[in-house]
Amino acid sequence: MSPKIHPTKDGSSTLYSEQFSQYYHNPNGAATESLHVFFESSGLNEYLETATSLTILEIGFGTGLNFLLLLDILKQRGSKIPVKFYSIEAFPVSAETADEFDFSGHINHQELNDVLPDIFKNLQPGINHKKPVGEVDAELNLFIGKFEAFKPDELQADFIFHDPFSPEVNEELWTDEVFKKLRTFSKPTTVLATYCAASKARGAMCASNWHVARATGALGKREMTLASPSKEKLKQFKRVDEKRLKNRYLNNDF
Ligand SMILES: C[S@@+](CC[C@H](N)C(=O)[O-])C[C@H]1O[C@@H](n2cnc3c(N)ncnc32)[C@H](O)[C@@H]1O
Repeated sequence: MSPKIHPTKDGSSTLYSEQFSQYYHNPNGAATESLHVFFESSGLNEYLETATSLTILEIGFGTGLNFLLLLDILKQRGSKIPVKFYSIEAFPVSAETADEFDFSGHINHQELNDVLPDIFKNLQPGINHKKPVGEVDAELNLFIGKFEAFKPDELQADFIFHDPFSPEVNEELWTDEVFKKLRTFSKPTTVLATYCAASKARGAMCASNWHVARATGALGKREMTLASPSKEKLKQFKRVDEKRLKNRYLNNDF
């Protein structure tokens, strides 16, 4: 059954998945949550001040909202830097569903509203390359398939948006094996951001050689999580007790 569209409280759309029994975003505000978790708390907005290139890896393309927000921000800045956005999606929605998305209240460039419905047309299993906007140099590499089948030749991301459904319903994407694989796509300075604050998920990161910190969550949620191979990148945040969470994870103590 294909996911159904719902408005969230900030006016932006989300979807509800019957398959996972979960909304794709916080029902209090899809765009507000994305901007807080992936753009502000991750340090991406600050990074863009001086960046000469940008590579992002997202787990769970979903509605494509994060890619749309990124295009809008790049356009707003008049950015010409080369941007590669990799995203992985096992269950893409139809172009007809994407036609109903409304993110117009959260983007400055209304001409971008057609980008997502166009992306969802004619997707093939495996990598789909798209370059949707002329003025910004942003390329989407959308992998249609399961995360475990994703094997790019070369990928070193500056930021990882870890955005599956929650660990209770999408457990396969929150294991130490997953975070070890993500580590192979990272640079020494990569920042991984996720809305999730579950101790077990943090333990899986700690058991996979990531430093892990808590940050304030979006829309009144107490916490979210940031991870990086670099302690320096997390210095503004309170780190979790990495040794303890790693041991608990390895001893299956959650
Ligand atoms: C929370 S939603 C993503 C939200 C998305 N980033 C957005 O802004 O709309 C999680 C997504 O992960 C996808 N997903 C779940 N399990 C997956 C897997 N094993 N491999 C790839 N994608 C998966 C789901 O189909 C869903 O689109």
